[in-house]
Amino acid sequence: MLYDHLAVGPQGHLLFRGYDTVTLAREYGTPLMLLDEERVRRRCREYRQAMEQFLPAGSHPLYASKALSIKQIYRIMAQEKMGVDVVSSGELYTAVQAGFPMENAYFHGNSKTNADIHFAMEHGIGCFVCDNAEELDAIDEQAVRFGICQRVLLRLSPGIDPHTHEKINTGRVDSKFGAAISTGQAEALAVRALAKKNISLEGFHCHIGSQIFDCQPFCDAAVILLEFAAMLREKHGYILRVLNLGGGMAVPYTEKDPSVDYRENIRRLGVCIRETCSRLSVQLPAILMEPGRSIVADAGITLYTVTSTKQIPGFKNYAAVDGGMTDNPRYTLYRAAYTVLPASRMQDAAALCYTVAGCCCESGDILQENVELPPLVRGDLLAVLTTGAYNYSMASNYNRVPRPPIVILGKDGPYLAVRRETYEDLVRCDQ
Ligand code: LLP
Repeated sequence: MLYDHLAVGPQGHLLFRGYDTVTLAREYGTPLMLLDEERVRRRCREYRQAMEQFLPAGSHPLYASKALSIKQIYRIMAQEKMGVDVVSSGELYTAVQAGFPMENAYFHGNSKTNADIHFAMEHGIGCFVCDNAEELDAIDEQAVRFGICQRVLLRLSPGIDPHTHEKINTGRVDSKFGAAISTGQAEALAVRALAKKNISLEGFHCHIGSQIFDCQPFCDAAVILLEFAAMLREKHGYILRVLNLGGGMAVPYTEKDPSVDYRENIRRLGVCIRETCSRLSVQLPAILMEPGRSIVADAGITLYTVTSTKQIPGFKNYAAVDGGMTDNPRYTLYRAAYTVLPASRMQDAAALCYTVAGCCCESGDILQENVELPPLVRGDLLAVLTTGAYNYSMASNYNRVPRPPIVILGKDGPYLAVRRETYEDLVRCDQ
């Protein structure tokens, strides 16, 4: 089994953290998203302890809440002493509603409006991750009005291609995010920030990509940013305090994916950062990381009920389910691989190769192809694994399909963290 919180019960049902998924599906209905709270907490602690142990003083993780932004996750993050990254006023509002201490929140995004900036300052946001010069001026203007000195990180693009592991000097220069180091725009942005009395330039941020299995691209990015900081110190006397290396560490979705040792990656990163700082005689900055997927993805599974099966001789076998791209658009968007299990008949041998189709009126609404499963019938239960990240957060109401509930398996048993949307919810904004 891909994860240690899965097992098979005596009736051949999939057990999730010891709970029978067939019973949970009966109680809460399907589609149903389940989240293992202990697993989320364990991963937070793994990041936090490894960063405290292997990285310079003051280093800590921020949960990238775009992966799953619901009130309960911000409460868990606050309890686990995690910072958070929010990327919109909506995520910020959700964190505020959950009582998250906003001084530990970082506000991202490449397109912040004046209203966003105002909203964030009003709620005492800890730090802005500023994307460009116009945004910097807008943050400064409002910092003056609020009478504060606003902590800011500048988002830079180091020109790393994490998927080939090659440094491409001009690569990512055309990214919509941040200022490129190679064009001189990063330096100009830093100089502009240093000239502002109401801006405290804490340091720099980069995010090189997502679902990265290798640790080397993170080390490469750190080296490029530290070299940039050394140059700024020489030319402008600037002393770097914080380096935020973004998110991106991968999660295995199928048996074919390698497992990831987050602690070991952080240890290697620490070695690389200390060596580089000593080579450049740069003071060790506090390191921030922004894991999203690796905090919540493998803590989640989604249960669906099969509504029909269809065999097209010589072509395909379809199993249609009662959810799809509305609760998980990742196969439709990225052809993302998932593991699908026959949750109600785990002891039956796989006999057919299925395409698992969603319920939307669109042929691209597929959850997964080429899945070996026992012969299915209407009423069978399927489980899609690793759905904790970028599923609920990217869900939609296409075809006016209500979003599923999220049930969290906590230490005292299952509890409802997000209720299922009703038809009334669907028309709430309609006049
Ligand atoms: N920090 C920043 C600035 C980011 O843009 C992201 C993700 C993260 C942190 C967290 O990265 P993670 O640790 O989750 O890889 N919708 C896509 C993923 C988009 C990620 C965007 N940014 C998906 O479903 O795969």
